[in-house]
Amino acid sequence: MVKNLSQPAIEVSNLTKFYGNFKALDSVSFSVNAGWIYGYLGPNGAGKTTTILMLATVIRPTEGTATVGAYDIRKNPDKVRGLLGMVFQEPKMLWVSTPWDIVNWHAKVCGLSTEERKRRVKEVLEALDMWEHRRKNVHALSGGMRKRVELAKVLIQRPKIAIVDEPTAQIDVVGKHRIWNMLRQLREEGTTIILATNELYEADVLSDRVAIMHKGKLLVLDTPKKLKDNIPGGDVVDIQLEKETPQKIVEQLKKFKEVVNVLQVKPSNIRVYLNQVEEVVPRIMNLFMKENMPIASIHMSEPSLDDVFAHYTGLTIEEAQKGGE
Ligand SMILES: Nc1ncnc2c1ncn2[C@@H]1O[C@H](COP(=O)(O)OP(=O)(O)O)[C@@H](O)[C@H]1O
Ligand SMILES: [Mg+2]
Repeated sequence: MVKNLSQPAIEVSNLTKFYGNFKALDSVSFSVNAGWIYGYLGPNGAGKTTTILMLATVIRPTEGTATVGAYDIRKNPDKVRGLLGMVFQEPKMLWVSTPWDIVNWHAKVCGLSTEERKRRVKEVLEALDMWEHRRKNVHALSGGMRKRVELAKVLIQRPKIAIVDEPTAQIDVVGKHRIWNMLRQLREEGTTIILATNELYEADVLSDRVAIMHKGKLLVLDTPKKLKDNIPGGDVVDIQLEKETPQKIVEQLKKFKEVVNVLQVKPSNIRVYLNQVEEVVPRIMNLFMKENMPIASIHMSEPSLDDVFAHYTGLTIEEAQKGGE
């Protein structure tokens, strides 16, 4: 497959979706270049699946539209579907099938020769740790296993554009790494990938661009590195206290000129975004000592995408997750 890196593979303009009176997606626009893994990151309820279902022409936009390849999702849904490989968040499967039957059938539909089909189906099911489960009835599979069957289909299809909705949800760490490697390989082979996820690390390590979504809106969009570099207060300090942090201390910390933001992660855990960390940390420790608040531990780090999310929303993604469903 020829890569054309200059041409957008997907162009989304003012895409909006209402479910009744509720606006699940609010005028979202972005474009995805051919050859990218495009991370679509946000907590539950951000509008990721809604976007994906519109791109896959499963549901219709209320306003706005998108083009996939050369085709408009409203005008040419059949053509759009022809370009796509999909991993749905909640795969629907024939309940009488087995993983092997599903993947083998898919390989047939994709036009693989008998010989190649045999080889590829085995290769992909093995790579996804599904080979020993290939004869099980799908009703006996866990959610994570069903996800792997969906992924196997896309890996065999090698579509021009793949849209994967939370591909590693309910999958263990080893499995996650395997899937990440396979998604990278798929990109190398020329597939453009939209990756919807609520996992910060997954979005960070895989994506060429990350769009951060919250409550139906696209907050910010850039390379993971630039997103992290551009938040003011480039140093992050996590302070774990033995007791609940008094509000008074939070207010005092905010008065330091180097401190950009203070986030209460948990009652006894605050995160401080600041500049000139080496100079400020001793002063912070003095402040806590003066207030007779023993520090249990202190941890300095580079900003993560969670810090980017927090910068724009005032919440960690975990907190947003709780309020998002
Ligand atoms: N069919 C539906 N009817 C009504 N509300 C829906 C429907 N699907 C999703 N929603 C709501 O739309 C918002 C966005 O959901 P979704 O797109 O699934 O988010 P995400 O995939 O980011 O978790 C949520 O508040 C969700 O409850
Ligand atoms: Mg979703």
